[in-house]
Amino acid sequence: MARKIVAGNWKMNLLRDEAFSLVAEITGMLNDEESRPVKIILFPSFIHLGAIHQLVASDARIAVGAQNCSDKASGAYTGEVSAAMLSSYGCKYVLVGHSERRQYYGEDNVLLAEKINSILHAGMRPLYCVGEQLEERKSGKHFDVVRSQLEEGIFHLSPSAFGKCILAYEPVWAIGTGLTASPAEAQEMHAFIRQRIAEKYGQEAAENTSILYGGSCNDQNARELFSLPDVDGGLIGGASLKSRSFVNIVKALP
Ligand code: PGA
Repeated sequence: MARKIVAGNWKMNLLRDEAFSLVAEITGMLNDEESRPVKIILFPSFIHLGAIHQLVASDARIAVGAQNCSDKASGAYTGEVSAAMLSSYGCKYVLVGHSERRQYYGEDNVLLAEKINSILHAGMRPLYCVGEQLEERKSGKHFDVVRSQLEEGIFHLSPSAFGKCILAYEPVWAIGTGLTASPAEAQEMHAFIRQRIAEKYGQEAAENTSILYGGSCNDQNARELFSLPDVDGGLIGGASLKSRSFVNIVKALP
């Protein structure tokens, strides 16, 4: 069975004290209200990562991840952060292929495949995002787009390396827009992704892969989305910046 996960992608938000307060509020609410062994991954900006890791280091429910990393191992790459550096600060996961990286920073599947290799090499787990733009869905190309993102970005991995990865389906038109994929649209694409994994790595690997939904997921729609057979949790942007809504989303896991 795939592990159920709720991940919070803070993007380029929160100053130092705001980030610390948010973590304190989340852990406080979880202590008071949630007794199940939930899995939460917080993705702060690089600069907060080491400190946030220390705040949650003794909390088995919460891990920290980075929103990006370099495809290069080390050397003269001004402004870049390597996978090994992230790991040395306690980071366990790295987001790869978020649509904002693809769209605003020109990251393509070839580069993302390199980043995935670096992350795995450093002993961390990639959370690889796929998803189509609105025009691609309107013209019926959404399955082809997601298929190539899988084939070019992550299906080069060996079965054991693939087993360390988490996937997220994030329709680009739903990110930060307040538009959510309908339950039928989300389930259809998640099932499509799981089927491609089964063809490539076998049925057991497909069943064990966590596939998260992302795109305007909030505490009003999370329960319905998380109850879908192929949705294993969520990658939450805007609603992860408020402790109450984020913890409500965590509590919506089945
Ligand atoms: P959103 O972002 O929840 O604000 O739509 C999701 C994401 O970009 O990961």
